[in-house]
Amino acid sequence: MGKIRPGMIVWIIGLFFLLASGEARGGGYLSSAHGNSGYGVKRQAIPASTGNCLHCHEMHASLNGTEPPPQDNGPHPFSLFSPGYVSQTDIFCLKCHDGTTAISSRVINNYFYAYRAGGDTNLGLVNNIKDMVTINLVAGSHTIVSAHDMGKVLNFICDSTRGWGFSCDTPPCVGCHNPHYVQRDEKTASSRGWLVSRPSTHGTSNYLWGDESGEKMRDFAGALTYQAPYRYGSNSTYEPDGSLTYDGSNLTDFPDFCLDCHGQKAITNYGVRKIDWSSTGDKHGLASADNGTILRPPYDPDNPTGKYVLSCLDCHEPHGSFNLMLIRSEVNGEELEGDITDNASTQWGYLCRRCHKDDYLADWGTRQVNKWMYAHHQDADAPYRGPLSNCDCHGGQGPPSEHPIPCAECHYHGGVDNGQVSIVTGRKTF
Ligand code: HEC
Ligand code: HEC
Ligand code: HEC
Ligand code: HEC
Ligand code: HEC
Ligand code: HEC
Ligand code: HEC
Repeated sequence: MGKIRPGMIVWIIGLFFLLASGEARGGGYLSSAHGNSGYGVKRQAIPASTGNCLHCHEMHASLNGTEPPPQDNGPHPFSLFSPGYVSQTDIFCLKCHDGTTAISSRVINNYFYAYRAGGDTNLGLVNNIKDMVTINLVAGSHTIVSAHDMGKVLNFICDSTRGWGFSCDTPPCVGCHNPHYVQRDEKTASSRGWLVSRPSTHGTSNYLWGDESGEKMRDFAGALTYQAPYRYGSNSTYEPDGSLTYDGSNLTDFPDFCLDCHGQKAITNYGVRKIDWSSTGDKHGLASADNGTILRPPYDPDNPTGKYVLSCLDCHEPHGSFNLMLIRSEVNGEELEGDITDNASTQWGYLCRRCHKDDYLADWGTRQVNKWMYAHHQDADAPYRGPLSNCDCHGGQGPPSEHPIPCAECHYHGGVDNGQVSIVTGRKTF
């Protein structure tokens, strides 16, 4: 106790320069959410001022003559006050981002992306990151059913074949956030900040991603169009900040960010398919819809040129969700009809109908909600047109509307209709 290890001096000096150069770019430690003297880091056990490095890095040296009690048996790697990662819910960052004052001197509340960017405050029933990543956590009538597996994220980023320079002792959260630069983002037109860092730039410039020109969703769209979804309950204001801007010039380029990991072949070793958002991949990405669409506002319904490209976070949460596969609970201005918890069902339609017209929204037939007869059998460009009575795809049990085929049999990233049913159209289905 009471000794500063020589290694620490080296990294403190190193970081001083790192932070100083960051400051020159307008986004260093002092403009970060953690280093802010008004609302930055402050642990109960540490007498240092708000925003001081010591609230995260425990030096085991005297602070003004007092010896702050270390958390468990520190010091830990990077001299952090607790280990980087122990389990999904026992992670360094979650010691403070847990909605309590167990460690932090005040409660820190954080929310789903669909609350922050989508503006749906009903989703405030989960108000911290720890709860968000806790599978089976019950909140009101909902349950967290999917979350990024933080152990796997850590394993992915620190695997030396990535060449990203992460330590396997670091908190997995730093794969996506740099604690020395990360900013607060109230997501109002007048109060913006930038939250993510690309894992592939760790240890190099390692600054924020999304804060500069060239790093916006508008830039990713290029010659195509990014159309921001509506904010919750509105048909005139848009994500992510409730302003009138809708071209993605105020939104981080999330596809490039997520694809640092999800665009790599190696991601398939972690139990998920590789995502192809290029012009030869998914139609929701840079590839174009090619068979006529029946979209809802603010998208152009017919969209004859297939001009749109979407952000991953138009549909997904980054941390955890009440739905399978991190799907948001609110999309394009409205909440889903129910939680998506059964993959082998028509529940996926709750997501699709936020942007595409089902029979109800297309004002077709008896206008049934979450029935998709019009899109698949009736529309001029429908894939399975023809006399419905002749169609044996639905098991010949009667009208297809009563015997829908689970959406996930055909619709998923990279999906193609190549024989799931007796009619084969060869069309890309995502
Ligand atoms: C919110 C908690 C937090 C605060 C506040 C914080 N750090 Fe860190 N620091 C970390 C974490 C987590 C790591 C490990 C990061 C990694 O793996 O890249 C780290 C790593 C470091 C490193 C190792 C080099 C690197 O970037 O990987 C240095 C040096 C450092 N911090 C110095 C500082 C100094 C100096 C301050 C105050 C100006 C500070 N830190 C404030 C959490 C914090
Ligand atoms: C010592 C407590 C503490 C630790 C440890 C900590 N944070 Fe924070 N964090 C804060 C505080 C305080 C804020 C300011 C947020 C506020 O006042 O709402 C903040 C803000 C943030 C923000 C900006 C969003 C917001 O709520 O304003 C992000 C992102 C963030 N932290 C991520 C992390 C990550 C990632 C780690 C681990 C590497 C981490 N934090 C560790 C206390 C902490
Ligand atoms: C796979 C990438 C990824 C990982 C891993 C990750 N985050 Fe995030 N986080 C994001 C993204 C993306 C956002 C939203 C960014 C935006 O709105 O611009 C976000 C937002 C946040 C926010 C702000 C929420 C608010 O209320 O506005 C906090 C705080 C945060 N993350 C903390 C953490 C902590 C703590 C961990 C580790 C347990 C973590 N994150 C792990 C990607 C990640
Ligand atoms: C640092 C690497 C990394 C980044 C960046 C990243 N992911 Fe992941 N993601 C993973 C890994 C590893 C898995 C597989 C383990 C798991 O299920 O969490 C995964 C799994 C997923 C899953 C499947 C979850 C489930 O329930 O099976 C979804 C959906 C997902 N990521 C979406 C995203 C989105 C959207 C982004 C961008 C906001 C993103 N990811 C950014 C590493 C990453
Ligand atoms: C956030 C809005 C949004 C959501 C949610 C959404 N889509 Fe889309 N979808 C679009 C847009 C916009 C296009 C047009 C893309 C383009 O212009 O290239 C599209 C295009 C498509 C196409 C291509 C049609 C063609 O003619 O080529 C299919 C198929 C499709 N979506 C299926 C789905 C399914 C299935 C779901 C639900 C699991 C879904 N979409 C959810 C916005 C969305
Ligand atoms: C047997 C395979 C199959 C099943 C099962 C299936 N679809 Fe489709 N779906 C398709 C094909 C093929 C297209 C046409 C794609 C195109 O035009 O390029 C399509 C188109 C769509 C579209 C795009 C409509 C537009 O705007 O052009 C949506 C939305 C959609 N399906 C939703 C669903 C939902 C919801 C379910 C489950 C209730 C479902 N699908 C089940 C094959 C299927
Ligand atoms: C139109 C809504 C939509 C958009 C936009 C979208 N996703 Fe998805 N994503 C889904 C749906 C629906 C699923 C579940 C079906 C499936 O597994 O593909 C899914 C599943 C996933 C999975 C799990 C795949 C697996 O093999 O289990 C990952 C990873 C993922 N998405 C990442 C991304 C990334 C990265 C982006 C942006 C480049 C993105 N998504 C954009 C709707 C979307």
